[in-house]
Amino acid sequence: MEMKAHFDNLKDRANQELDRILQPHSGMPESLLEAMRYSVLAPGKRMRPLLAHLGFELCKPADSIPVNPWPAACAVEFVHVYSLVHDDLPAMDDDDLRRGIPTCHRKFGEALAILAGDALLTLAFEILAESYPGNLGTETILELAKASGRTGMVAGQVVDLAWEGKIQPKEGENGEKCVSKLESLHMRKTGALIRGALRLGAMIGLGETKSPRALETLDRLSRFGTWLGLAFQITDDLLDVEGDASKAGKRLGKDATRGKLTYPGLIGIQASRDRLNELETMALEVLKPFGESSLALKSLLGTVLRRDH
Ligand code: IPE
Ligand code: IPE
Ligand code: MG
Ligand code: MG
Ligand code: MG
Repeated sequence: MEMKAHFDNLKDRANQELDRILQPHSGMPESLLEAMRYSVLAPGKRMRPLLAHLGFELCKPADSIPVNPWPAACAVEFVHVYSLVHDDLPAMDDDDLRRGIPTCHRKFGEALAILAGDALLTLAFEILAESYPGNLGTETILELAKASGRTGMVAGQVVDLAWEGKIQPKEGENGEKCVSKLESLHMRKTGALIRGALRLGAMIGLGETKSPRALETLDRLSRFGTWLGLAFQITDDLLDVEGDASKAGKRLGKDATRGKLTYPGLIGIQASRDRLNELETMALEVLKPFGESSLALKSLLGTVLRRDH
């Protein structure tokens, strides 16, 4: 219960910070701000800002004033929301409902939805550059760019749509469906940003990324983030099959009809649940050296594995 209250407080703070950043700005069209605010401030779970904050809490020094982690936590949410706005477009998943309300392109039209996504993506990097001077700025920008870009989330989206037939794969790219290809897809499309959120928060808490302690910590959190991210997309795939659309706030039961490569689609529901149990064991194991200080991450892992939306 105590942990739930902590998570609720962090979510409230994340909502306040997102709202504070998304204010009128000289030179910014009002229509653009409206579309960005519409999609960002809709009721999302704020999993990525939460993770960034938990990474920060785990690593922050006890004896000095730490750097503010909220700009980084918001930057990850902006990239996430841009990915959702574009994911819902007719050229991609063609969805009408997101976070319980019409998708951005349904509300504002495709042109503004594409541009709102573009502006959210670039705003994320603007915030990092403005908030973290020196090395920390460069390193956080690099981290988020890698997590979201050509080998991270965008790469995963390309592979996802190639399996569905909306992107023409190059020869030899798809081949036979198998679990290792599925996991490689999920780790990029969803896992990379989840892992990146945790690492960004940790980098800000540590204040540097090069010492042996920082390297060991980041490596351990990377492994945890990878298992958590994979588990998150498996639960998303399971909810698509057996979830409650009124809780999820998006249309469900769509992956199979579209021919997407998903866990339940490839190996069935029970084997997907077994894989979640394996991932939980691996993720808990990797947290062990952190002892008590990783209680919040353990609790978040449980929330993800047993989520209903
Ligand atoms: C949905 O992400 C897209 C996936 C990566 C599966 P979330 O389930 O975190 O969506 P919000 O942020 O709560 O709306
Ligand atoms: C989306 O995966 C992942 C990203 C937006 C990068 P899905 O397409 O499965 O997400 P939902 O089900 O639409 O939320
Ligand atoms: Mg998709
Ligand atoms: Mg989708
Ligand atoms: Mg899905």
